[in-house]
Amino acid sequence: MITIIGSGKVGGDAALFSALKKLDDEILLLDVVKGLPQGEAMDLNHMLSEQGIDVNIRGSNDYSDMRGSKVVVIVAGSGRKPGMTRMDLLKINAGIIKDVVENIKKYASDSIIVPVTNPLDPIVHIAYKTSGFDRNRIIGMGNMLDLSRFIQFIHEATGHSRDSIRALVIGEHGESMLPLTRFSTVSGIPLSNILSNEKLDQLVQDTRQVAAKVIELKGATVHAPGNAISVIVEAILKDRKKVIPIATPLDGEYGQANVSIGVPAVIGRKGVEKIIELDLNQQEKEWFNKGIESVKNALAGI
Ligand code: LAC
Repeated sequence: MITIIGSGKVGGDAALFSALKKLDDEILLLDVVKGLPQGEAMDLNHMLSEQGIDVNIRGSNDYSDMRGSKVVVIVAGSGRKPGMTRMDLLKINAGIIKDVVENIKKYASDSIIVPVTNPLDPIVHIAYKTSGFDRNRIIGMGNMLDLSRFIQFIHEATGHSRDSIRALVIGEHGESMLPLTRFSTVSGIPLSNILSNEKLDQLVQDTRQVAAKVIELKGATVHAPGNAISVIVEAILKDRKKVIPIATPLDGEYGQANVSIGVPAVIGRKGVEKIIELDLNQQEKEWFNKGIESVKNALAGI
């Protein structure tokens, strides 16, 4: 079973994409708001019925219903309002996450936790420390979402099919995220062979700033996060050994420890099966370490 804690727009979309991909026979939507997960589940089941997809979605306000969950996605908490940074949410959401994870420990102690709540990287570390789980079972969804945006910008700049683009974004899911143009290609052709340095710098800036623009225009980001969550859940439940950027606690990798941040990793049934260490150049290291400092400062402040 997949449990999604937080049945708002992103949680509902994560359930939608996970069901359409048939990632599990059963999906549980949990929320503190009475009626919200139940109504969302009914609406989704009606859609699945017409599609002939026998994935059953349940809604509940009772944490004990998550017994037997293989994966627990945490979307609960406040989202950004226009003009806010993700880090502005830390004080509000840290307490919510601790309470949620205590319940995961109690009712789904064998699960893999996928935090989504912002500010993502500090929240991942709080979930790790609160759960006491091995770090391989903590997989934050942040850079997977940044990557989907980076691919869109490469698609727009080159005109090539999104399907031909292989790219990477690591680091903080925040102001200092690191879209790696040097590790991104169109069908194996390095981006630097196709686009000018000025254009590449612009794509990096656009990727950093686009979420705030979507929030300004429509009030929240929904479909891209919902889809990115389902990519991670699929890699776990289908044991895909997929190499994707996710946020997880570091213990020596990239010369860092006692901090969680976005890194490329092999994701399969056991969760994080291997963290991949890239040979970053000086500028890339500076951006990556800027994110590390931002996350460490945030954690020190709570
Ligand atoms: C975003 C939020 C989910 O990047 O952090 O859309």
